[in-house]
Amino acid sequence: MRIFSGIRPTGEIHIGNYLGAIKNWISLQEKNECIFCIVDLHALTTPYKPKDLEKNITETAIVYLAAGLDPTKCILFVQSDVKEHAELAWLLGTITSLGELKRMTQFKEKIRKHPEYINASLLNYPLLMAADILLYQTDLVPVGKDQQQHVELTREIARRFNRKFGKVFKEAKVLLPKMGARIMSLQDPRKKMSKTDDPKEYIELFAKPTEIRKKIMAAVTDPGKEIKYNPTKKPGISNLLTIFSLFSGKSIKELEKEFKGKGYERFKKSLVKLLINSLEPFRRKRKELLSREVYIKEILQKGARRARIIAQSTMQEVRKKMGLI
Ligand code: AMP
Ligand code: TRP
Repeated sequence: MRIFSGIRPTGEIHIGNYLGAIKNWISLQEKNECIFCIVDLHALTTPYKPKDLEKNITETAIVYLAAGLDPTKCILFVQSDVKEHAELAWLLGTITSLGELKRMTQFKEKIRKHPEYINASLLNYPLLMAADILLYQTDLVPVGKDQQQHVELTREIARRFNRKFGKVFKEAKVLLPKMGARIMSLQDPRKKMSKTDDPKEYIELFAKPTEIRKKIMAAVTDPGKEIKYNPTKKPGISNLLTIFSLFSGKSIKELEKEFKGKGYERFKKSLVKLLINSLEPFRRKRKELLSREVYIKEILQKGARRARIIAQSTMQEVRKKMGLI
């Protein structure tokens, strides 16, 4: 199977990104042809400083490598290094309606969050994501729940293109994790953990033990004191149980039993310990990688060369079918 996914280099990558996406990429790379992208062009659609972007691209590459992506098993590259992404996005825009783009939940959320920065590319964001996916004849797109709607639109665009111009694209399917597809904010467990929100709401993948302790102990819980999984009635504890389960490999049922009658504080203290131990190897690898900038650049350049070959071959077909000589 061909797998494609990406993350925007927009800041600190958190345990939601890890549990919703990256963790699954690690196992997928063993048996599939995987392509993982740092989608820098997507990162330009929300406010950013040019100076920070380069740093964030390197940081995202470090996250990929520290989390366990292996450049000998998958292609790692930066989106803007392969020009075909922007080119195909433009072409896909010609067969997508304004209404379809305006209906996207992420667009509606982002214009609410940044009313001062409603740019046309924010609306066209799903076209570029569709181009990312379709250029590589992708079978599966492993992402968190918030991206499902974009993958579904991508399928619709692929179908429409194939019907109108002749078959070029595969209809990629979304691949959601069974658990962890939507990790919630630590301060408001009814909204998703997001890296553009207040740092109190998320735990960065490379967080220091002191930060982990502070943020988990301050995480919002629910009335009562029972450790029980019930996302509607107990969203706070349910979110922490999900995080606990995914990092420990224990089922929610086992955890409920283990912490029966022990109260929130004992549970949180154990979670702190677990997170400190689980994130420590990431921090160690990050430290190692920070001094290897040339090595990282080489990986990304080699990745871009390999990606370009696939992308160019798809684009050649697209151009021919659309009548562009
Ligand atoms: P982004 O940071 O928006 O580029 O997201 C990168 C990946 O992480 C995507 O696959 C998202 O679906 C996933 N993701 C982002 N936030 C969460 C979250 N709170 N829970 C689970 N997955 C998430
Ligand atoms: N839009 C995705 C997000 O915000 C990132 C992304 C861009 C992506 N292109 C992609 C994910 C292609 C999967 C496949 O998380």
